[in-house]
Amino acid sequence: MAYWQKGTWLIVGVIIAIIIIIVIVVPVEVTKANRYPNYSKLQYSLADEYSGSTFFDNFDYFIGYDPAQGFVHYVPREQATSLNLTYASETTAVLRVDTSVGPGSEPDASTGRFSVRVESKRQYDNGLFIFDVKHTPYGCGTWPALWLVDPSNWPDHGEIDVMEAVNQATDGNQMTLHTTKGCSMGGVKRKMVGSSLQGSCYNGTNNNAGCGVDGPTDSFGEGYNAADGGIVAMEWRDQGIRMWQFGRNAVPADITSKQPDPSTWGEAAADFPNTDCNIASHFRNQSIIANIDLCGQYAGGVYAQSGCPSNCTDYVANNPTAFENAFWEFGAFEIYQAK
Ligand SMILES: *[C@@H]1O[C@H](CO)[C@@H](O)[C@H](O)[C@H]1NC(C)=O
Ligand SMILES: *[C@@H]1O[C@H](CO)[C@@H](O)[C@H](O)[C@H]1NC(C)=O
Ligand SMILES: *[C@@H]1O[C@H](CO)[C@@H](O)[C@H](O)[C@H]1NC(C)=O
Ligand SMILES: *[C@@H]1O[C@H](CO)[C@@H](O)[C@H](O)[C@H]1NC(C)=O
Ligand SMILES: *[C@@H]1O[C@H](CO)[C@@H](O)[C@H](O)[C@H]1NC(C)=O
Repeated sequence: MAYWQKGTWLIVGVIIAIIIIIVIVVPVEVTKANRYPNYSKLQYSLADEYSGSTFFDNFDYFIGYDPAQGFVHYVPREQATSLNLTYASETTAVLRVDTSVGPGSEPDASTGRFSVRVESKRQYDNGLFIFDVKHTPYGCGTWPALWLVDPSNWPDHGEIDVMEAVNQATDGNQMTLHTTKGCSMGGVKRKMVGSSLQGSCYNGTNNNAGCGVDGPTDSFGEGYNAADGGIVAMEWRDQGIRMWQFGRNAVPADITSKQPDPSTWGEAAADFPNTDCNIASHFRNQSIIANIDLCGQYAGGVYAQSGCPSNCTDYVANNPTAFENAFWEFGAFEIYQAK
């Protein structure tokens, strides 16, 4: 009898404990899952504008071996100009892959094709970046990106990929962060249209895939270009990093009038809130980079899956005219900073 009573009390005690846990822990977890930064309106003013025939004066040309093991020779400015791989006029700036060197050329492209990687001379610690992107590069073997990084301090100062795709770019635009340990988007509340790929931004997980967000098919490549591109905006502040894409016919008036106000733009394409990632400590001193890599870790790695012919390096070496769509065309880059 005494034992029976003790047992009953034990059961009652366990049930009460479970109820207490549910009552306390569930709301805490729900609150955590509902945490969201206060993206209150900031007053932005124009700090830098890269545009017109001096567009490329704002950049250093990267030369030397490709850090991403691509099948590419990044050329210095003089060579890029003489090969017309970079070209800027009053209204437009073009950065392209060489389409002239074939198997019979001297030298040929058997060790990689000529391309360009430019890195802004200025570094940034936050801001609102408005990129006018008229044409995105695509085609088998290509790995183009428009991104921000501190090349001398990766991954310590973070990496922000604003536009990225590989091969035929049929998967749409990928927007991704890469960081050191302690930055995750998994399980946190986000307000965005794009679909989340991986949660962890830490470069040591998922083979450095980063925490990516995928846009719709026509956010990069053939469909994007056919619609004359548009504006890609990236806001980087302590509360989080957000990116938007606006088609050419849907650019908000406040962007056109150079008074951009993201608080009026509606849901972002990608939202990387600071809930489980200290943005201020993970992202610093970043240059704006535009490049077109060929093959390498990413485009080479998924080359066959992308439905591309032969193998990546053979195709790139021997088919110069296959790269006629492998060019970026930009209008202006505007960088705003909060007052
Ligand atoms: C968000 O921040 C702004 C500016 O600091 C403040 O005025 C506003 O009350 C905050 N909103 C919330 C919901 O905390
Ligand atoms: C260089 O490229 C630009 C942009 O595509 C083009 O308009 C121009 O005609 C090219 N110049 C030469 C010399 O091929
Ligand atoms: C900022 O980045 C530039 C370019 O990578 C680098 O040369 C410089 O050392 C960096 N500065 C700091 C303080 O990290
Ligand atoms: C991640 O970054 C560390 C440096 O912090 C580096 O040693 C490591 O090789 C990187 N891992 C990958 C997969 O890039
Ligand atoms: C790529 O294809 C070429 C031509 O068929 C072949 O000679 C070469 O060995 C292949 N390379 C690899 C890495 O498969």
